Parts: sequence; C-alpha cells; structure tokens
Amino acid sequence: MTLSNNKKLIAVIGAMGQQGGGVVRALRAGGQFKVRALTRNPDKHRELADEVVRADLDRPETLKAGLEGAHGVFLVTNNWEPGTDELKQATAAVSAAKYAGVKHFIWSTLPDVEAISGGKFDVPHFTGKAKIDRIVKEAGFANHTFVIAPFYYQNLVSVLAPQKREDGTLGWALPIDPDVRGIHMGDISELGNIVAGAFAHSDKAGNGEYLPLVGDLMNFNEVVDTLNRQGHKFSFKQVPKEVFAVSFPGAAEVAETFSYFQAHTYLGSDSSDQIALANKIAGGQPSKFSAWARLNVPVQTLR
Ligand SMILES: NC(=O)c1ccc[n+]([C@@H]2O[C@H](COP(=O)([O-])OP(=O)(O)OC[C@H]3O[C@@H](n4cnc5c(N)ncnc54)[C@H](OP(=O)(O)O)[C@@H]3O)[C@@H](O)[C@H]2O)c1
Repeated sequence: MTLSNNKKLIAVIGAMGQQGGGVVRALRAGGQFKVRALTRNPDKHRELADEVVRADLDRPETLKAGLEGAHGVFLVTNNWEPGTDELKQATAAVSAAKYAGVKHFIWSTLPDVEAISGGKFDVPHFTGKAKIDRIVKEAGFANHTFVIAPFYYQNLVSVLAPQKREDGTLGWALPIDPDVRGIHMGDISELGNIVAGAFAHSDKAGNGEYLPLVGDLMNFNEVVDTLNRQGHKFSFKQVPKEVFAVSFPGAAEVAETFSYFQAHTYLGSDSSDQIALANKIAGGQPSKFSAWARLNVPVQTLR
C-alpha cells in the first residue's frame, strides 16, 4: 500500500468556491490528507483535488456517495444561490456525514445576529447559519469545529467594487458610518489555513471551538485611506439606509447587515481569544488589508 492510500480523506463541499477553494488548496499544501472535492459539475473541475465527485446539497441522495469513506467534512452553504435553503442543505449534509461515519465536521458559520442584537436586526444569511450550529453540535461527531468567514477583502473588488459616484469620483456610497470601526475583514482564500489546521489538530480545535478568520478590523475611512495611500483616489459617502435598501434587489439585507456591523461589529463581541486560537491553528497571522490590497487592487484596473 502506498503512503497516499493511508491518508485520511477530507470531503470539501463548496470546493469550487471562494471558501472551499481555499480549503482544498490548504489541505493539499499540507499533504496530510487526501482531498475529495464535491461539486455539481465534476467534469469541469477534474484537476481540482485527488478526487472530484458529483454532489448536490439539494439532492441528499447524492451526498451519500460523496461522503463515503470520509474522515472529515468541510461544509459551506451559499445563501446567495437562488432557491437555497441553508437549513435544509446543512441538515442533509450533517445526516449524510453521520451515516458515512465521518469523525470531524467543520461548518462555516456566522454570528447569530438575532441573539446578539436582541432581535433588532434581521440578517438571515448570518442568523440562518448560526441556527445550524446546534444541529452540527448535536449530531455527535467525535470532533466538530465552527469557522467564521469575515467580510471578504475580495468583496471590495467584486460585489462591492467602487462605483462612479454623482460627484464624479470613484468610491463607495453605503449605509454605514465610516468612522465606526466594526468590520472584521480578511482574505477569504486564507480560511483554508484554519480549516486544514483544525483537521490536523482536532484535539485542540475539534471540540466545538469557534475560529474566526480576521486579518483586520476596519471602518470605511480606513479602507479608503489605505487604498488612497497606495495610489487610488477613492471616496466614501454615507447614504441613508432607506435609500440604499431600495437601490437594487437584495439591497435591504445588505443595508441591514451594515447597520448590524455599525451597532455590534461583524463578530458581535470581543472575539480576541477566538481569533488568537484561529491564528495559532492556522499556523500564522492572516494578511492585513494593506498587504492584500497592494497585490489585489492594482491602481490602473479600477480607474
Ligand atoms: N462575501 C462575504 O463577505 C461573506 C462573508 C461571510 C460569509 N459569506 C458566505 O459565504 C457563502 C458563499 O461561499 P463562497 O463565497 O465560497 O461561495 P462561492 O464562491 O459563490 O461558491 C459557492 C460554492 O457553493 C457550491 N454550491 C452552491 N450550491 C450548491 C448545491 N446545491 N450543492 C452543492 N454545492 C453547492 C458551489 O459548488 P458548484 O457550483 O461547484 O456545485 C460553489 O463551490 C455564502 O453563504 C455567504 O453568506 C460571505
């Protein structure tokens, strides 16, 4: 038997995405585990991992084969995909993992905005994930871990890229006070280091620990200042929540999310111990925004 046959297998759900892609890369770089990528389109991604298997969270019967023989599972659900019921999908994945005899389950969760804000803010893509934590915990895996993805730095060059503003400048018009430092941010490709570390050190990080990826805690003035020091000329304008909420489909939830950041911060509480543990498990500090931006926000492309 070759050494690789002895490696424990980790199944990554969402392996084609920003979170899962980083998990696959970190696991492969670590070399300790064999990696199986689960995707609805295996033919497109044959080279992605040691094994690429077709699975669809909306078709639970496909998860059985996808998780067979797996020691560990990483799960992220994607609320932005139309028709997604995160609770239903995660419940199906947890059941299939239990059936397959999975030992270590890692769930990419988010803070419980409903509990943190006493019901003041309604942010389903946060609270909906937090409600799944209990299902993961109560499933009785030998090990389970919660990782928390931050506000991706990548959002600032994709879904929240700077727009041409009315005054002719390029920048952001968002419903948040740019002086309030409340956004825990990070390079989402680095979430994989925490996940791979947790699988490798399940004794230290497999007992229900919460491990947030945080490269920086910032406000929008700091985001803009950092970028402008690197040669950009971005601006920021705070807009009323009610105006922003009707500016595009889905904007109301985005507006509510920014209000929550402003009132409670992204993580919702002092999480320094959890962040320190996450960094230790990942084996290093995550990238600061300035370092990420220097490489990923080239001055010429956004002008
Ligand atoms: N943007 C942020 O700042 C931020 C912050 C924290 C958390 N999040 C959360 O991150 C999640 C999205 O993760 P991401 O950024 O990694 O997404 P992404 O890059 O858009 O990738 C989505 C992944 O989900 C998989 N997927 C979707 N529906 C599936 C299904 N029915 N069955 C199996 N796989 C399915 C896709 O797989 P295939 O297409 O290959 O099948 C793909 O790999 C969202 O729930 C969001 O709330 C985002």
